Parts: sequence; C-alpha cells; structure tokens
Amino acid sequence: MLDSLKKIKIDAMEELDRVKDLNEVEEIRIKYLGKKGVLTQLLRGMGKLSEEERPAVGKLANEVRDFLEKQIETSRIEIRNREKEKKLARERIDVTLPGKKILLGKKHPLTQVLDEIKEIFIGMGFSIAEGPEIETDEYNFERLNLPKDHPAREMQDTFFITDNILLRTQTSPVQAHVMDEMVPNLPIRIIAPGRVFRRDDDSTHSPMFHQVEGLLVDENVTFADLKGTLFAFVRQMFGKGVQFRLRPSYFPFTEPSAEVDISCIICGGKGCRTCSHSGWLEILGSGLVHPKVLEMSGYDSNKVSGYAFGMGVERITMLKYGIDDIRVFFENDARFLAQF
Ligand code: DAH
Repeated sequence: MLDSLKKIKIDAMEELDRVKDLNEVEEIRIKYLGKKGVLTQLLRGMGKLSEEERPAVGKLANEVRDFLEKQIETSRIEIRNREKEKKLARERIDVTLPGKKILLGKKHPLTQVLDEIKEIFIGMGFSIAEGPEIETDEYNFERLNLPKDHPAREMQDTFFITDNILLRTQTSPVQAHVMDEMVPNLPIRIIAPGRVFRRDDDSTHSPMFHQVEGLLVDENVTFADLKGTLFAFVRQMFGKGVQFRLRPSYFPFTEPSAEVDISCIICGGKGCRTCSHSGWLEILGSGLVHPKVLEMSGYDSNKVSGYAFGMGVERITMLKYGIDDIRVFFENDARFLAQF
C-alpha cells in the first residue's frame, strides 16, 4: 500500500507537469482527490490493514494528499499567470487612436441674451436689483397703481397662493421695492432681471418666463431720456441698421406709456410671417413712472420724475435668433442648445 501511495504521487506529478489549462488541473484533482478519486479509494481500503501497518500508511496518505493539494494550487497559479502574460502581450496601446473628446457645456441661449442685456445697461450706468419671486398682491399690483378691481389685472392671469400672496406676474414690483429702499435718495438707476409666472401655455407663452425691468428716477427725467436710452439699447442688441419707434400704449404704472417696436429683423421691414406683415416687432413696454407710483414709495412727484421699461427675455431671444416656439428653451434638447 505504501508503494501504491508513492506511485499515486509520482503519477499525479507527471500529469500535472503536462497540464495546459485550468480545466485539465481540475480533471486531475477529481481523478486523484475527488470523491471517487484514486487516493480516496485507496484510503477506503485502509480498514483491511493490520493494526501495525495502519499508522504508517495513514501518515503517508495524509502527506500525499497535502502534497497534491499544494501542487494543484501551484499549477493553477502558474496557469493564471501565464494567461495574464499572454493577454498583456496581445494588448498593445494604439497611440494613433484619436483621443476622447471632452464635451464642454455652454450657457443657455436665454442666459447668453440676458448677459448681453445686463452688459449693455451696466455700460450705461445701471446696476442690478433683485426682488422676490413670491410676491404680495400689494407689490405685484397695488403699488403699481393696479387696485383690487382694476380691469388691467385681467391681462396677467395670475397664480395665487393665497388671496394676498402670489407668484409675481412681472418684474415691475421690484420698482417699488427699490424705491422703498432708496427714498429719499436719488438717482435710482437699476435693471431687475428675473423669473415671472403667468397661467399661459402655448407656442409663444410659457407659465414661467424671464423679464428685465428697468427703472430710472431722478430730477428732470423726460421722455427724451427714455427714448435715447432705449434706442441705444436696441442698436447694441439688434445692430445699427435697425429702425426703432415708440407707439402710444397703456400701462397703469406709467403715464404716458409707450410700446417699443423695432423694424423686423427677419425681413428688414418689408413684411413677413414673423412680423405679421407689418414690418415691425414689438419688443418692450415703457413709459414715465406714474406720479402715484412715485408717491406711494414716498417720493415727491412734483420734484422727482422717472422712466421705466420692461421686456421679455424669451421674446427678445426668439426675435434675435428666429425661434418660433418658446417651449424649446425649456426642453433641454442638446441639439437645440448646441446651436448657440
Ligand atoms: N410689466 C409689464 C408687463 O409685464 C411690462 C412693462 C411695461 C414694464 C411698461 C414697465 C413699463 O416697467 O414701464 O407687461
């Protein structure tokens, strides 16, 4: 039996020397150490041995089993290492492959246009003011000369939170906030960009959109100042060749009021679909600050005057780039955004 054990050891070693892959190692393990393996079978026969023979055979059998287990593990490690090296030898780095492009994001078209608007007005000495998006009825309407039952409220379909709290429908309430803070100091010269909200939703109206409000309050401010400032803005924003006109209008918080049109930038004023064949595009509302609005903030309307204006950032961006659906601004389609 001792000889059989020695032979098992030698045979197994020879076979292990010849293995090519992990499967063959596993076959050898099963052949010798498996439940029906050669060594296992032999150990089963130990019962037939005499008391004297048993310890020596048992000892050698254990040694052979431990030895084979170790050898099998060693073979496995060697095979794995060999395979790894082969793989590495095959994998060369191709230095001629083009590199991976790093995609840079950029500013949303609305942000780009807003930045442009800010830059133009900052260049003329205006500073930036802000106000809350959740407003009181008082500031969104009453302080702008729109008392509770004023019919002009109808024009701004409002998201009310309570009877007195709402999402601001315009940036104009910032006028009153700034005047409250500044009174009695002069001059006030601000623009107030920000989000506004109305219950509108179609290809030219979004329930959330952006406006830029402008306010200048000082002594002896006239309509000519307003016109000159807006003309300078329009020429910087849309180009020197653009025509410009003021059209009488009505806003409760300005008197007189005017809407500003520019000659159609698509057709140059000849008339096309974009300008509804009128040759003109309306871009903002404006006027001289209503004396009542000045008085409500504590300014003396006999000594102080001012002008105000308000424009929609989406509208200006749509006109500038010939975009005909406002919803594309908020869909975040990278194919659209990449064009600006
Ligand atoms: N707040 C007005 C609107 O949303 C726009 C506007 C018109 C603002 C005339 C003004 C202004 O400051 O003077 O329709």
